[in-house]
Amino acid sequence: MKTSVCIIGGGPSGLMLSQLLHLKGIDTIVLERQSREYVLSRIRAGVLEHGFAKLMREAQCGERMDREGEIHDGFFIAHDGRMDRLDLHQHSGGSSVVVYGQTELTRDLYEARDRMKGVVIHNAEDVQPHDLTSAQPYVTYRQGDDIIRIDCDYVIGADGFHGVSRKSIPKGVLREYEKVYPFGWLGVLSRTKPVSPELIYAKHERGFALCSLRSQVLSRYYLQVPLSDKVEDWSDEAFWAELKRRLPTEVAERLITGPSIEKSIAPLRSFVAEPMRYGNLFLAGDAAHIVPPTGARGLNSAASDIYYLYHALVAHYQQGDDSGLDRYSDKALARVWKAQRFSWWMTTMLHTFPDNGGYDQKLQATELAYLFSSERALGTLAENYVGLPF
Ligand code: FAD
Ligand code: DHB
Repeated sequence: MKTSVCIIGGGPSGLMLSQLLHLKGIDTIVLERQSREYVLSRIRAGVLEHGFAKLMREAQCGERMDREGEIHDGFFIAHDGRMDRLDLHQHSGGSSVVVYGQTELTRDLYEARDRMKGVVIHNAEDVQPHDLTSAQPYVTYRQGDDIIRIDCDYVIGADGFHGVSRKSIPKGVLREYEKVYPFGWLGVLSRTKPVSPELIYAKHERGFALCSLRSQVLSRYYLQVPLSDKVEDWSDEAFWAELKRRLPTEVAERLITGPSIEKSIAPLRSFVAEPMRYGNLFLAGDAAHIVPPTGARGLNSAASDIYYLYHALVAHYQQGDDSGLDRYSDKALARVWKAQRFSWWMTTMLHTFPDNGGYDQKLQATELAYLFSSERALGTLAENYVGLPF
């Protein structure tokens, strides 16, 4: 087989790039290791920045998001028995975020790819990129007993943190930066009315908690848990009881509980791989960088990579201009590191760190006190949360 751009990974990054390029007449093939059902069963991000929503519309995939997604102009931070609201709209100069699940967004992208007869190959095993520094790279994969070869101009590594693309870059070329946090997030999805129409990020001595939502009938809640905890350790009853302990009393009293329809634990990690280009391989999204979920930046950082790559590839194919491709890694990384800084800051401010002594705890409390006493500090939080410009 032959294509212009071979995309490894059929998550939001890969599908979005495929869809955008298709609309500009650029041919792509997407190779996804899992079945579509499996990809659509993963419950992950819920908060989209304005720039991401815009890109969905540009990809002609924004209709359901605009109909069913919720615009959020603010969120709460619960701490020390009180609830402080951050008015995103006011403090970011008129911007907001969209609450729309990654699962739904991925479904919309798959449907758009099907509608336009885009090639997305599922259950592609042993995907392997080859000859990445030559002008004729290619990718192989196995389907049953057959090894299939795809010749292409460019390979996009959009295959998430555990994918093959980053691992194809020689050790001597790649530099990896990592910070692992001593806890994870236990997430529960339940078909219940959310406790609050806006998100609540809760700092509590027993650990962080987050009240989020997917719609007015579907709630998503998270608890900070030790890395040693297993999902099986947490019955629904234990989850709800712990969540109530970590929320201000008046919020806990109105929490509606119900059976969980999904429960999972995600470890928290900060990670960046540099550079994001190796020959004709370009990394995008979680394949190149991971953030702890506290600032809701992960998927949104993937979107900015896709934005830069999309424009760079269009300039190459339509004008023979390679400057965007040449600058891609530096440009993407500049924004990636800002998302890293913000996610690290939000995580550090709101979680309970097992090794923190009295001094660190005082600083954490002062960080919040300062935040809600300073218009400038609120502005800094708001402009990062709604998304820095691409
Ligand atoms: P992925 O979604 O990981 O997709 C990669 C795809 O590649 C997968 O489908 C995988 O099956 C496939 N693949 C892997 N290896 C191979 C291979 N060898 N060959 C072929 N295919 C392969 N982000 C936000 O912006 N906002 C939030 O509110 C938010 N909340 C989150 C909450 C949680 C609990 C978690 C875990 C994450 C959250 N994130 C959030 C982060 C967000 O989900 C990720 O950043 C996002 O999924 C990245 O998309 P991606 O397409 O780059 O990678
Ligand atoms: C969600 C996840 C986040 O990491 C976040 O900061 C906000 C919302 C969510 O899954 O709904």
